[in-house]
Amino acid sequence: MAISFNQEKQFFHLSNDSISYIIGIEKETFLCHRYFGKAIKNFTGNLDFPVTTGAFSVTPFPEDPHFSPHTRLLETSTNTSGDFRVPNYQIRNEAGKTVTDFRYHSYQITKGKKPLSGLPSLRGNEEEVTTLEILLVDKIQNLHMTLVYSLYEKAPIITRHTIFENHGKNTIFLENAGSMMMDLPESDYELITLYGSHANEAHLSREKLRPGINRIESTRGTSSPQYQPFLGLSEKETTQFSGEITGFHFVYSGNFIAQVEKTQYQTSRVQIGIHPDTFDWRLLPNESFTTPEVVLNYSNKGFNGLSQNFHKIYQKHLAPESFKDTQRPILLNSWEGNYFDFTTDSLLKQIKKAADLGIELFVLDDGWFGKRNDDHSSLGDWFVNTDKLPGGLEKIAKAVHEQTMQFGIWFEPEMISRESDLYKKHPDWALHVTPYPSLESRSQLVLDLSRIEVQDYIIESLSKHLETGTIDYVKWDMNRHLSEVGNDQLEATRQKEISHRYVLGLYHILEVLTQRFPAVLFENCSSGGGRFDPGMMYYMPQTWTSDNTDALCRSQIQYGYSFLYPPIMMGAHVSDVPNHQVGRITPLNTRGYLAMSGNFGYENNLNQLSETDQIVIKEQIAFYKAHRKLFQFGHFYRLLDPTSTFATSWLFADENEVFVVYFHGLSQPSAETIFLKLHYLDENATYEDNKTKVVYSGSELNQIGLVVRGAREDFHTTTFHLKKL
Ligand code: DGJ
Repeated sequence: MAISFNQEKQFFHLSNDSISYIIGIEKETFLCHRYFGKAIKNFTGNLDFPVTTGAFSVTPFPEDPHFSPHTRLLETSTNTSGDFRVPNYQIRNEAGKTVTDFRYHSYQITKGKKPLSGLPSLRGNEEEVTTLEILLVDKIQNLHMTLVYSLYEKAPIITRHTIFENHGKNTIFLENAGSMMMDLPESDYELITLYGSHANEAHLSREKLRPGINRIESTRGTSSPQYQPFLGLSEKETTQFSGEITGFHFVYSGNFIAQVEKTQYQTSRVQIGIHPDTFDWRLLPNESFTTPEVVLNYSNKGFNGLSQNFHKIYQKHLAPESFKDTQRPILLNSWEGNYFDFTTDSLLKQIKKAADLGIELFVLDDGWFGKRNDDHSSLGDWFVNTDKLPGGLEKIAKAVHEQTMQFGIWFEPEMISRESDLYKKHPDWALHVTPYPSLESRSQLVLDLSRIEVQDYIIESLSKHLETGTIDYVKWDMNRHLSEVGNDQLEATRQKEISHRYVLGLYHILEVLTQRFPAVLFENCSSGGGRFDPGMMYYMPQTWTSDNTDALCRSQIQYGYSFLYPPIMMGAHVSDVPNHQVGRITPLNTRGYLAMSGNFGYENNLNQLSETDQIVIKEQIAFYKAHRKLFQFGHFYRLLDPTSTFATSWLFADENEVFVVYFHGLSQPSAETIFLKLHYLDENATYEDNKTKVVYSGSELNQIGLVVRGAREDFHTTTFHLKKL
């Protein structure tokens, strides 16, 4: 059995071939963390608990004064019960009191995994997952807290979330409803996070855990480009290829907190949840609240091992069913090549050229609706601008389909421009706090997605377009963060529910639309990677990774995101040079390999493409089509950390072939020769170089490596393509 309970020794053991997670019950009261890591084959429960005793201990057991929640390794806790570390929950009652006393009550083990009500979560059937639910009860107020653990049989992955239920007679308020907490007995870890900003996302931070609270967070209303809702704890020695790391990834797209407290006793508390600063949830008698899910991932095969686990589980159990095994089309997006400046004719010409080049999907980005000729107006008016596009979207869609390509359009459904018909009709639909002015960002306001009428408006205005059956793809954009989070609908004590209700509203809209139109491919975007998180990937299987399309910057950004997401989830497009974001000129060949290393596409204005570039692009597309299976469904490994000259390298491998990309970055004098060890080839197989036809053994390629010679050109790319014999 994947999850067992030892009655005599009072512990739960969740285990599969690769991991064990052990939870003990102490004094029939506390749920204590005992272990998470490599599988323990035979756990006897006879080893001592790691326990510290300390001054200032508060105890519920006067006969055992050293037993304090403050010194135990716990699975859930609050700081109003004598534990002074970062809490995982806090409940206030009608009298304003925040003391609770949750004690272990019972457990249940079931096959499979239930979906989380109103929230995205990893999927899994009865053969794939076993779930443990542990109930804790506060008998004084009759409150229930259920900790839910789902273990995947064939992956080093456990998901966790918490359910709060009010079985009492009075209303309570959840001031903090964390998704998970875990105390580890050690603290000599390095904390891994991904930080960034708009057009500069997903930089890796690796810092020794310092005493006190190490925290990342978002209060922007979205998961944000500033911090990915992820943290990892690794050993000092962990590399891409070896060593231990545990990752925690939050399946949520709104305000979050993710923190590790290195305590006075050199233990570590990991805690993740909705950000309590912008949260306060009323729970009436008989109501319950389900927190979002956290994905726990353990690897003793270094960072690549951790990434492999995430890539596989997200492809198989997170991406929408209809797209998880579906190959993705090569697209041309109109944005960087045209911005708002296009006509039906200029688009039709590009569509024709796109078809000649072999492109499979044409996406009409911003600027097709209302009076939108710049970014000052029309968000919310989702009807086509027939002055600009006579013949409407139908004419363009028809031309695209005649070329046997697919047609996609852009929406930014969560927004409203002051200059729009929608705002004239429903000024109160924007988030606002009367009598303060609502502040603009990119000249736009945010619709209050917590309101049902707003959710319905978005669902219906998009459905009208999708019902025509002419739209195969939607790019769902979101280009500002939330301010003035409030409305005149909810009563005073519930205003702090709005941030979470916004996210629930968004998930509801996405659930309805993706169920109603299962064949439409949705691409997630928030000015690029501003809301690139597992919550969004549950509905939309790919994300526009970054507004930065410069090849050098992309080599860093895609490197960072690849820790968590497989290439098929990361939109990556070749664009014109000098690059529009940083002004850099990089070779087309390099831009091509960078884009092929993600979900491949183009952003160029095809009407302005030189003959030579057209030939190269045609070759790139033909090459990608021939090896699409490898790029989209193969294994992806990082071979080199980006160096000070920005060089980096990665590898795609499947059962038939191998593709190695080495980006030189900046050229150097006396450039060194690199031996690129491939690490992940089959030791017992031989491989033939497609160009030279030279044959190598997998073992020599893994341990000695391919030779990459220094290039006399900035941003040059060297590739190797090998066939497994
Ligand atoms: C931001 C996106 O990231 C871009 O790709 C583009 O769609 C613009 N918005 C359009 O306004």
